Amino acid sequence: MIFETHAHYDDKAFEADREELLAALPQKGIGRVVNVGSSLDACRRTIALMERYPYLYGALGVHPSDSGELDEDSFAWLKEQCRLPKCVAVGEIGLDYYWDEPDRQTQKKWFVRQLRLAREVGLPVVIHSRDAAKDTIDILSEEKAEEVGGVIHCFSYTRESARIFLDMGFYLGIGGVLTFQNAKKLKEAVEVVPLDRIVLETDSPYLAPVPNRGKRNSSLNLPYVAEALAAIKGVSTEEVERVTWENACRLYRMADGV
Ligand code: NI
Repeated sequence: MIFETHAHYDDKAFEADREELLAALPQKGIGRVVNVGSSLDACRRTIALMERYPYLYGALGVHPSDSGELDEDSFAWLKEQCRLPKCVAVGEIGLDYYWDEPDRQTQKKWFVRQLRLAREVGLPVVIHSRDAAKDTIDILSEEKAEEVGGVIHCFSYTRESARIFLDMGFYLGIGGVLTFQNAKKLKEAVEVVPLDRIVLETDSPYLAPVPNRGKRNSSLNLPYVAEALAAIKGVSTEEVERVTWENACRLYRMADGV
């Protein structure tokens, strides 16, 4: 069984067949899914999905690119939702200097606030960090994020950054990009990351692996990522699935039975 640690099944890309797709996942080898909120609306939709599917859990938080929508009222609402029993993390939160919107001060403010929220409610964090390695590392260090724990989702930085995140006790989320021909830097980084600190993710509907690159992604593509990881680590695909399942259970602090 594969543990899908990061998907956005609330996205409108799944409007036509969401029910069919989600209902079939366990028979197709996807034993658990964490649906990740990216905006307040996405959090509301994630809560509805958590209530509907027993094997689907939620991470609730606001993505840096949407952080401009947060205010004290919505933040208080978010904190309340994070106490739901099936909410397993606060996320995705972080910094995105690729899109660079809203301004960096706003992104940083709500990144810090949501990190503190995670500490307060006792949940790990799902970090989104794009073109912002230094500021992400600085904030995580200042906030003593090693006491909070979590995952660097869609890890895309260098070996050196990987080591820093690992030293802070974080897991690294690896997805479809690992199968891309031009992902040399990521493959080099993954070589030095112990298998027991890696979790599998898709970021569906984005970032489908080869041979489905460019199409809508879903958790059903995770075996391609597991195969690519197995090749780099010199272990079987079954071993990758088993170890990453256990890792995901430790990350999200869940019992490991299906
Ligand atoms: Ni995401």
